[in-house]
This record gives sequence, C-alpha cells and structure tokens, in this order.
Amino acid sequence: MSRSLSPAVPVESLSAEEARAEHERLGEALAEADRQYYQDDAPTLTDAEYDALRRRYEEIEAAHPALRTPESLSERVGAAPSGKFGKVAHAVPMLSLGNAFADEEVTDFVGRVRRFLGLEAEAPVAMTAEPKIDGLSCSLRYLGGRLAVAATRGDGAVGEDVTANIRTIHEIPQVLQGAPEVLEVRGEVYLSHEDFRRINARQEERGLPPFANPRNAAAGSLRQLDPRITAERPLRFFAYAWGEIAPARPRDTQSGMVKWFGELGFPTNSLTVVCESAEELLAHYRRIGAMRATLGYDIDGVVYKVDDLALQARLGFVSRSPRWAIAHKFAAEKATTILDAIDIQVGRTGALTPVAKLRPVTVGGVVVSNATLHNEDYIKGIGTDGERFREQDIRVGDTVIVQRAGDVIPQVLDVVAEKRPADARPYAFPSTCPACGSPAIREEGEAVRRCTGGFACSAQALERLRHVVSRRVLDIEGLGAERLPFFYDDPDLPIREPADIFTLAQRDGANLKKLKDKEGFGALSAKNLFDAIEASRTVPLDRLIAALGIRHVGETTARVLARAYGTWQSFHDAAVRVADGDADTRHELDSLDQIGDAVIDALAAYFAEPRNRAMVERLVAELTVQEAEKPKSDTPVAGKTVVFTGSLEKMTRDEAKAMAERLGAKVAGSVSKKTDYVVAGPGAGSKLDKARDLGVIVMTEDEWFELVK
Ligand code: IVH
Repeated sequence: MSRSLSPAVPVESLSAEEARAEHERLGEALAEADRQYYQDDAPTLTDAEYDALRRRYEEIEAAHPALRTPESLSERVGAAPSGKFGKVAHAVPMLSLGNAFADEEVTDFVGRVRRFLGLEAEAPVAMTAEPKIDGLSCSLRYLGGRLAVAATRGDGAVGEDVTANIRTIHEIPQVLQGAPEVLEVRGEVYLSHEDFRRINARQEERGLPPFANPRNAAAGSLRQLDPRITAERPLRFFAYAWGEIAPARPRDTQSGMVKWFGELGFPTNSLTVVCESAEELLAHYRRIGAMRATLGYDIDGVVYKVDDLALQARLGFVSRSPRWAIAHKFAAEKATTILDAIDIQVGRTGALTPVAKLRPVTVGGVVVSNATLHNEDYIKGIGTDGERFREQDIRVGDTVIVQRAGDVIPQVLDVVAEKRPADARPYAFPSTCPACGSPAIREEGEAVRRCTGGFACSAQALERLRHVVSRRVLDIEGLGAERLPFFYDDPDLPIREPADIFTLAQRDGANLKKLKDKEGFGALSAKNLFDAIEASRTVPLDRLIAALGIRHVGETTARVLARAYGTWQSFHDAAVRVADGDADTRHELDSLDQIGDAVIDALAAYFAEPRNRAMVERLVAELTVQEAEKPKSDTPVAGKTVVFTGSLEKMTRDEAKAMAERLGAKVAGSVSKKTDYVVAGPGAGSKLDKARDLGVIVMTEDEWFELVK
C-alpha cells in the first residue's frame, strides 16, 4: 500500500473538499490495514506507521466534525468500554425454530404444511434448505441505509444493544445502497474454525482460559464490553432472515430475499437451495451432512423454510416458532463411559426420575457426568408400549453409550454387553420416596412412579419453590435454586411455600436473629434479596399461572389461559368451577387453542385440593397481578366466539381458526348459547341445526370474509 498518504499539509489548511478526500483515502487504508492485521494475521504496516495514519485521520475528523459518521473508523475500533449493554426491544420478535431429528419428522412437517394450506398430498411446495449456522443470531437495523442499531436475540422480545461491536465486523456493511427506509437484516454471527483456533492460541498466550467451542467464542466476543477486543476477533456473518422492512418488502420469496441481501452486500450462505419435496430436502440434508467437517465453520443442521412469503403469512406461528419452517438437526454425538451410580430425583409433581452418575466423558466438546435414564422401564429396556427396545437392562458398573443432542439433557442410550462386570446386578427401583420415605406408587398405565407424600415431601416442596423463583416464572434474583434448601430448613426464617418468599422481609424484621447476620449473608446481600423479592411482587397473570406448578401448565399454556381469562379473578373462578365439575366451564376451556383434557383434568385436580387453594390464596394475597394483554379488540370479531363447521373452501380449518384468533375471536369446537357466529360450509350438519335452534347468527365462508376484511 501507498505510504504517502499523510502529506505534510497541516490539517488546518485543508479545504473541506480536500479534507473529505483525504479522510476517505485514509479510512480505506486503515480498514485495509485492520483487515490484514486482524483477519489475515499479516500486518503490512509497522505499529508506528499505523498510528501515524490513525492520528492524521482523527485530526481531520476533529477539524471537520461532519466527517465523523457512525461508519467512521474512529467509531468502530477503539471506542471506550460502554459499561453495561443497553436493551433493545425488537420491532418484530426474533423467534426460534421447531426441531426435527428423524427423516419422518421432516416428511410430517411437509405434510402438515400441505394440509394447513389445503394442498393435495403430493402437491409441490417450494421450500428452501439452508445450513443451520451454529453461532448467535443478531438483528441489524438500518435507517435510511445506515446501520443504526444491532441487537442480539435476547429472549426474542428484547435483546442487547451490541451496535459498537457489530461495527467491528468487516463483513457487515455499514451503509447500504438502495435499501428501504427501515430495514432489519437478521442472521448469524459466527467464527470460522481457523479463527477460533487462532483466538484460543492467543488466549493461552495471554494466560486466559480457552473457549470451549466457536459458538462460545463468538458469543463471548460479541458480548464484549470493550469493542477493541471484539475487533481482534474476526467475527463473520450470514444473513438469512429479516424483521421490520418499510415502506415495502422488495421480494416475495425467502430465496429472493436472501439473494437480495447478497446484492446489498451481506454474506449469504452458498449452500442454500430451493426444493420441491421432502425427498429433495432430505437429499440436500445428506449432501450438507457429508460436507460438514470440511466447511470450516460449525453448523448443527439444515433449516427448511416455505419459500413463498404469502404462504408463510398464511401459515403463521404456533407459540414461538413458525409453522412454515423447521430445523432438521444433525444426529447427536455419542461417547462411552462407565455408569458409577444411579440417583433418584424427586420432581415437583412427585415423579421419581433416575439419573445416571457417569465417569466424566467428553461428548461433542462438552463434559458430561450426569445423564437421564428417563424411568423405571427405560432402565429395564422396555418401551412405552411394553415392547423390549434394548437387549440389555442398565446396571451400575456397566459401560454405557451416552448421547447428547443439541441443548437437551444427555441420555444413556445403550450398554456394551461384553464389558458388563460379573458382579453387576439388575437395578432395583425404589418403592419409597428417597426424600420423605412415603410409598412411591406407579399407577396403571403410567411409566412414572410418584411419591405419595404430597405436601409432606420436602423434595416436592423444594422443587415447587425452585420452579416459582426460576427465570421464566417469577425470576427472583438472589433466591436461586441453591439458596432455597437453606431457607427451607432455616428455623427462624423458613420458606416452605411460595407465599413465604413475599413475607420474608416482614418476618425478618420481627426476628431477633436477622438474615444479614446469618452465614452466607451480609447487610448488602440481605438487602439485595429483599429488593429483588419486592421487584417480583408485581407479576403478569401468565407468569402467576405458570408459577402455580400445575401439571401440564407450562409457560405456553399459562399464556393461553391468561389471554382467555384476562384477570386473576376470572381465571381463578373458572378453575374452581371446573374443579367442581361444571360442564360449561370445561367446554369453555376445551374450546381454547392448545388446551385439552390433560390440562383441564390437571387444573381441576389442582383446584379440587383445598391445600392447593389455600396456598394459592396466600400467594396471591402477597402479589399485584397484572391483567393479561387483551386480544385484539378493534376488529369486528374481537371477543366473539366463532364455530366453523362443514367443509371450508377458501381456507383450511386450521387456517380459519388461526385467522379468527389473530383477529381477537375465540374459536370453539361446539355450538352453545355463548356462540356468536357459526360459519357453515357445504355439508354442515348437527352444529348448523343447533345454531338455528339457538338463534345463533349463521354465515357462509364468503360472508365471514366480508365481515373480517
Ligand atoms: S431462521 C423465525 N435460518 O437457529 C425463524 N435460523 O432455532 C428465524 N439459525 O435463533 C430463524 N441458521 O440463531 C434461521 N439459516 C438459518 C439459521 C438459523 C442458524 C439459528 C438462529 C435461530 C435458531 C433457531
């Protein structure tokens, strides 16, 4: 490169035009030098030369502040640590994908898509197949063609502001030509294998711990508070998705959009293809699988997406994943090791789960020393249908094959029969609870043995409390799972049930022996804990419902219930009614999306138990419950209950249901006094009759569209 970039003209005597031209030239030279230094590890300038160019560049900017744009190199590298990351609310949520492992799950997925869209069984549906990059997803927001904000996925709704760090990534354009006014490009930030090795070597030279894998290294680099450190780590990027685009999205297919990202200057993955059938998808999956080891970066599967964006919109989402896409993961990684012991864990519903204690072994880069054994029959090698699926039972002392797939808990798969020690005995599953000694019973047709100790079982009570304080429920910082056993057994300040958490500060005030004087606490940590508890006293309705620990009622179901009932009082009353056997309420619950007999029975059983009811009352008395976000209320069908019957011709039943729910209506499966509209297609029978009997408004599919359009 040219060394004559900083002629001896004093900066003050440069005209605005000259300053701009020299600033640009210097910027290019410095960027090139950065690339050589950071990416190629082959610097062509000495440090002194680099510094001289850099100084001149900054002097010009100081004299001509208009040149200091966010793309300026001085904003990219060398910015001071920013303290904590700010939060960014995503304009469009960043969702995750459902997973498939077996080929049949892919065929099922394609079948589901066809059915939902009302297509013939063999009708072609164009889908993209693209590598699933194992990095971390990011959303890059461009305003007027300039990178304005870059954020991590976070919890999908709110991410962290990593703009300064993203600006150090050379592959990501700072400025776009011909982009819409608002454009959010999404994709994966990752590290190549080679750069990962180089970073780890440097870590070691500096006496720092190495990263476990490229993903961790990429995440650690992007979430660096000091962008200078990020700049030393040559992060890369693949664009594959988008968020907000205004005024208009320029292409109408997934493949078209990705191609357009390429035209705008973003790296896109060259292994993306468009397929027409499940067979073609699977063939591409195998091709990519075969290339996996030589790609130079980590992938953990192949993502299939419906190509046509209009069809994507019709398909919509279930919970947090799109119906129009799925991630086909590569097979899990396996290793052999010795089973040292079998522990029994007691869950919050009393389920006894056997856990394998293993000689630590590395499975796909992660050290594993615990693995699940699922249940009693699994240890014996008997499946849910009573069939033997493994020749050997699993015994302590056995050499076992352990499998880890993605983020799921590792499991013991099989036994190496030849290595079984002569004295190994079949495992005797306990018939009493290891925590409370109550009988552990296995009900007819159930795979799981459960402790019958209920409220008297400390293990169950502790698990319920763990669930309540966990991040996704009440998220009480400072009262993590590790501290709960301490409080459970503390004679002065026991926490035995959820309400006790919220009376802690008050009870502490009345105690002689204060929490701050106890081992493991101090004035500050006690105060922090009380503050965190105070901060959790106001809870959204769905989190409260999830906190109750009702079987089958996790986050998603809790959200459905919260939206349907709006307030705690109306949810509570419905739950009590269903516990009292009220058929109408059962009906009402049954008509909610994703709620069926298992949930309703569990809800009824929970609220039928007076001790549960009392416990819930004590908890709710301590809380301020926020009403659930109301479903859409500004549409003609908002709040109405609709029944679809007969065959629909413009859309499938699932689609009709999803559409009505999007518009704030409740979709019911049967006609009652509470039904507002019945949309009847050809062949409608008894439901139509009943609607007429009850005087419910009946309309055709066309009339329905007319109403909602
Ligand atoms: S699409 C609404 N495409 O996988 C769907 N994701 O489990 C948006 N990922 O969080 C994601 N490669 O971090 C999509 N080609 C690809 C991907 C991909 C990797 C990651 C991404 C996402 C996760 C979903």
